[in-house]
Amino acid sequence: MPERMQRILVTGAAGQIGSELTAALRERYGAQNVVAADIRENRSAKLMEGGPFEHVDVTQREQIEAAVIEYRVDTIFHMAAILSAVGEEKPQLAWRVNMTGLLNVLEVAREHNLLRVFSPSSIAVFGPETPPDPAPQAPPLRPTTIYGVTKVAGELLGEYYVHRFGLDVRGVRYPGIISSETLPGGGTTDYAVEIFYKALQEGHYTCFVREDTVLPMMYMPDCIKATMDLMEADGTRLTHHCDFNLAGMSFSAGELAEEIRKHLPDFTCEFKPDKRQDIADSWPHSIDDSAAREEWDWRASYDLRSMTDDMISRLSKKLERGKL
Ligand code: SER
Repeated sequence: MPERMQRILVTGAAGQIGSELTAALRERYGAQNVVAADIRENRSAKLMEGGPFEHVDVTQREQIEAAVIEYRVDTIFHMAAILSAVGEEKPQLAWRVNMTGLLNVLEVAREHNLLRVFSPSSIAVFGPETPPDPAPQAPPLRPTTIYGVTKVAGELLGEYYVHRFGLDVRGVRYPGIISSETLPGGGTTDYAVEIFYKALQEGHYTCFVREDTVLPMMYMPDCIKATMDLMEADGTRLTHHCDFNLAGMSFSAGELAEEIRKHLPDFTCEFKPDKRQDIADSWPHSIDDSAAREEWDWRASYDLRSMTDDMISRLSKKLERGKL
């Protein structure tokens, strides 16, 4: 069994994945042992009060280093990033946050001999030339978005630190993540979350991709499980490190609307593709995750139906409490 993580820093902790990951890690490793870090403060009382919180801008290496020293951190989950849609609006910012941020995290980890780093990648590493159904583990990676470019470079940089410096860096290629706690921000797959909120709040959603757009998606409990399972996996079994394909479910935007209509029969959805359609069209429809299955026994639990059931039930409760 690998050495156990003791003191954890989560960057981007106020984000869609970071917020739920921080809560899950606090549950498992003890609230005081998991430091939430984000450039955005006061986003969530739960995050700020549920354990230590530090203001960290990942482009400022000394801010990461200060948190690592103060809390004697041995593991970093580096979740801070600019996603695909915002990246196309601000490519220079995407490079700075995604590349300088990652380099800073890896350098601090190397210099302070940290035990392990989690560096997430994305289906955005794939491009129009990738076989789409399913995307293999190791096709040529030629993405057309700056976000994808930074994720390919990030995977390679992580692998470099593994081989050159012996740093234990691990990562998965997340599909679009669907969740009920914190809204995603700036991604192309955000429609698959927004649709639930709008369906419950307004009974109508204008979707920014075509009805027949199929993308790989995953429900948050599977996302958290994959992240923690990989970080706790026996490193001697891993041939890959920073680039594991990860599959959850695949469906079209139209099929998602149809599934929601089974719960909310009056729900209506129209499809008005914007610039994000081009990004969606450059990504594959499904993912071959056999490497993750073989090397750390990964297997997703949720499909379109069970995810939709759970999303509707959780968001309905939030709506009743006036918290949606
Ligand atoms: N959800 C991300 C995005 O849409 C994909 O990694 O940018």
